[in-house]
This record gives sequence, structure tokens and C-alpha cells, in this order.
Amino acid sequence: MRCCGSLRPHDLQSPFTPARQNRSVIVLGIETSCDETGVALYDSVSGLLAHALFSQVGIHAQYGGVVPEIASRDHVRKLLPLINQCLDDAGLGRDAIDAVAYTAGPGLIGALLVGTATGRSIAMALDKPAIAVHHMEGHLLAPMLEAEPPECPFVALLVSGGHTMLVEVRAIGEYRILGETLDDAAGEAFDKTAKLMGLGYPGGPALAALAGQGDAGRFAFPRPMTDRPGLDFSFSGLKTHTRRLWVESDQGDVTRADIAAGFQQAVVDTLTIKCRRAMQQTRAQHLVVAGGVGANLALRQTLKKAGRKHGWKVAYPRLEFCTDNGAMIAFAGCQRLLAGQSSGPGLQAHARWPLDQLPPLEAPSA
Ligand code: KG4
Ligand code: ZN
Repeated sequence: MRCCGSLRPHDLQSPFTPARQNRSVIVLGIETSCDETGVALYDSVSGLLAHALFSQVGIHAQYGGVVPEIASRDHVRKLLPLINQCLDDAGLGRDAIDAVAYTAGPGLIGALLVGTATGRSIAMALDKPAIAVHHMEGHLLAPMLEAEPPECPFVALLVSGGHTMLVEVRAIGEYRILGETLDDAAGEAFDKTAKLMGLGYPGGPALAALAGQGDAGRFAFPRPMTDRPGLDFSFSGLKTHTRRLWVESDQGDVTRADIAAGFQQAVVDTLTIKCRRAMQQTRAQHLVVAGGVGANLALRQTLKKAGRKHGWKVAYPRLEFCTDNGAMIAFAGCQRLLAGQSSGPGLQAHARWPLDQLPPLEAPSA
């Protein structure tokens, strides 16, 4: 396993040259970076052939958060059956697989190692290339699985349980981080606030559902770091503010919904203000919103409205591909494979892995 110090995720000297293949290529995608086991088969010409997912949410709920060791063990149990299910659904045998793309990071190291070891082993057994995929590259390319894919260059707002970042995407593989969170990720702030108010795990979707019934204007909430220039985020102050409101409140059902609504509105406004700045700064015409919080309907509606007002196109993955899935990994792996890239024979798993260290697909554009 390579660690962060010597990142060479793609050796750029694959024996696989797509031109020589003279046909479409089918990539098996494997995602095991956290608490979802995701598998997919993607065909470079006809698109997504099959995908399957097992969410461990029900398993971790009793602990109030992801237990890494349990996550790894469950990936071991579910991964091979899900791969077989995908092959069955697509009506294909193993010999149809041209390459295996697996999430190599960032994420929980034990969980990543399950996908890495399995993916690498399948590739080795089939004598096919393997591609180590960056989880956040998977998220930011996920809207390209849709009928109207965004065009590069675009700005991506990546909002998940572990990350909140704005990225300028000049081309696939050419990423410039414009801003990121200094503390909690947006999804993490949703989850922690939901837990505080007794909404269980993972709280993001539950808090969002409750917010729909509340009055966002009853309590005042800050829009953190919007009163100063820059594109970084910070959600821990908002979380603390919400905690204080909740602890000092009557903690009734109406109050819970009103606090949820006010909190959600504050997160949505903050993300929207920063997106507007990023779009102005880069002069991009397309905004991509991806990652689990991208499933938040209030965020989608607000950004759509902002897009109409400012003349940007806003692209999202379908709801099921906002959260972790194998399709985005198969797609991202396929793009690198088609560019002649694949990974060396070693196992790669990186708990941390900066997105802007990925190699471009082609010579960087001017
Ligand atoms: O991308 P993802 O599946 O996993 C990571 O890579 O982290 O994102 C999961 C996060 C969780 O924090 C979850 O609470 C949040 O996305 N999430 C939501 C919604 N659906 C999922 N947050 C707010 N509103 C939602 N509808
Ligand atoms: Zn994710």
C-alpha cells in the first residue's frame, strides 16, 4: 500500500491502449470508502449497464455514527455478491470486464482496503488493468452520467459528509481547489445538528425532511464567513449556535422543526453565496453540485434559482448518485482508462488524498 507521501496513483504507462481495442470498454466500478458498498458496470459507448448498492446505514444507526471496523467487515460480506448481481443484471460474464476501477481514497482506510484488495485481485485474475479512483473525482464527475452532462470548464460544489469544497474543473483531471471547509463538512454539520435534536443517524435527510415543516425565520442564524472575502467555509460556529438555541429552547416539536428550517436555510444561503463568488471569479457558465448534501432539495431549488438569475447552468447527478455509489467510480475510472492511464500493480489506499494532486487526462490546457 502506498501512503500519502509518495502519491503516484496512475502510472500513465498502461499497456491498455483504447485505440488498439477498437471497441467499447466495460469498466467494473467498486466503491467502499465509507458505509456504502457500491458496484457498477459502465460501458464507454452505451453508458451505465448496471449498478447495485448496499447501504450500511441501518447497521451503524444503533451506534449513532459509522463504526469503521464494522464498515470494513460488511464490505467484505457484500462486495462479491453485489458484483455478481451487477453482472447478472447486465447479462454479462466476468470475461466481459475490461478494467476494474476502485475507490482508493480518501476515506476510512480499512473500508478502502476491502475495495482495493478485491478490485486489484479481480483485475489480476482477469489480467486486466486496474484504476485507483479518487472518491471526490467520482462525485464531481457523477453528473456526467446524466442525459445533459455539464461542459468543462465548470465549478463544482462538492458537499458530502467528509468534504465541502469548491473546485474549478478546467478539464477532467485538472482541478483547482478554490475553497474548502476549515472545520466541519456541510454533511457533518447536518448530521451532528440532527443528532443533537434526537433525529438519529444519518441525520442529514431527516433534518432536511423536518426543515420542510418549520419556519426558517423564527430564529436568527449566522451565514458563516460570508462577510469576508474568500471561498473557504466554516460550519462549526453554526453548529455551536444551533446547539445553544436548542439547549435553551422548550425542545418541543414545533421548535425542533423551526430550528431545523433555520439551520438548513443558513447552510443553503452560505453555500449559495460562495457558489456565486466562485462563478464570478472563474467566469464559468456551468455549476455542478455533487456529494450527499447535493440531494438536499432546498439547496437544489436555491441554486437553480440563482442559476436562472445569473445565467449559469446548474447540473446535479440523479438523487441516488449524489450519495456514494459505484457508478461514479466506474465512470471516473473509464475516463482515465480511455486516456491510457491505469494504476501500477501495488495496492493503493489513501485515507487522505488531495484532489489537486491527480494527474490530468491530457496535457493541461493553457
Ligand atoms: O457523499 P456521501 O454519501 O458520503 C460522503 O462521501 O461523505 O454524503 C453523505 C452525507 C451525510 O452527511 C448525509 O447526512 C448528507 O450527505 N445528506 C444530506 C441529505 N442527504 C444526504 N444532507 C442534507 N440533506 C439531504 N437531503
Ligand atoms: Zn462520498
